[in-house]
Amino acid sequence: LPDHRRRLWGAADVKRTLPERDAHSHKGSHGKGLIIGGSRLMPGSVAMTARAALRSGAGLIAVSTDPEAIPSISPYVQEATFVEGKDGGQVPVLEGYDGIAVGMGLGRTSVMVTVVEQLVHEKETPLLVDADGLYLIKGFLQELEKREAPTVLTPHPGEFAHLSGLSIKEILNSPFSHSKEFAEKHGVYLVLKGPSTIITGPDGEQRVNISGNAGLAKGGSGDVLSGILLSMMMQGEDVMNALSNGCFLHGSTADLLVQDEHAKIDLLASDVIEGLSRTFRTFS
Ligand code: APR
Ligand code: MG
Repeated sequence: LPDHRRRLWGAADVKRTLPERDAHSHKGSHGKGLIIGGSRLMPGSVAMTARAALRSGAGLIAVSTDPEAIPSISPYVQEATFVEGKDGGQVPVLEGYDGIAVGMGLGRTSVMVTVVEQLVHEKETPLLVDADGLYLIKGFLQELEKREAPTVLTPHPGEFAHLSGLSIKEILNSPFSHSKEFAEKHGVYLVLKGPSTIITGPDGEQRVNISGNAGLAKGGSGDVLSGILLSMMMQGEDVMNALSNGCFLHGSTADLLVQDEHAKIDLLASDVIEGLSRTFRTFS
């Protein structure tokens, strides 16, 4: 990697930068997160994001989802709470969180456009946008640079094509320069996912994660990553480190699991969540 502002992020970097859990901490010290996503037909997405966030150290996780999805989510994430809108509707109260993730399994309905618009204007809360959220936020890209807290977008190349107007081919041909241009232009952190993942900061700094394997090429892997990243962002002060560490831990858990417990063919995103403990234990 010729550019000194672009580097591979490896195990030694994670060891050096992963925040330690303070013996005197309480749940409030580890972040109160809100996850907005899931729908009647896609309840699993937000369930995995929430469980992954808790397995990655988040102190408290609240979920805002379609009420019909709650009975299938809550048994899988008993530690999470659920929130509803003021009028019993689906637009949640957005104040009071250390971080918010939106989009996983959300669908693309017009009421959700309103939610995303309000999130963009909730300037002081760190925001992570994934999956359907990336489609909903397209109309507000111009406003992202006015946010005071970090905005993190986590597209795969297809979603990045939609956001940027570039073709997937153009993106795959020059992923570094297109990521950098987009992140600088909109003042966002961009996590361009794939077999290797490029993390770009609003100042153009870039990190690359190469952990992970084709066992992750399965629906749900991205939802798990979003939960890990939300949690890392709420606990570390440096956003680039939080995102780089999260991507490394996600991939490296999948790598550990295919060494001795699973094969790439049967590995599930939910196995990665349960496997996180093994990875974390190697770093503590
Ligand atoms: N090697 C290493 N890592 C991989 C590989 C691979 N071959 N394939 C995928 N991954 C990792 C990516 O780096 C990323 O972290 O798995 C994750 C996949 O995330 P997504 O592409 O978002 O996939 P997914 O979770 O299936 O998304 C489900 O959300 O983004 C929408 O359109 C998408 O409807 C789909 C849904
Ligand atoms: Mg996805």
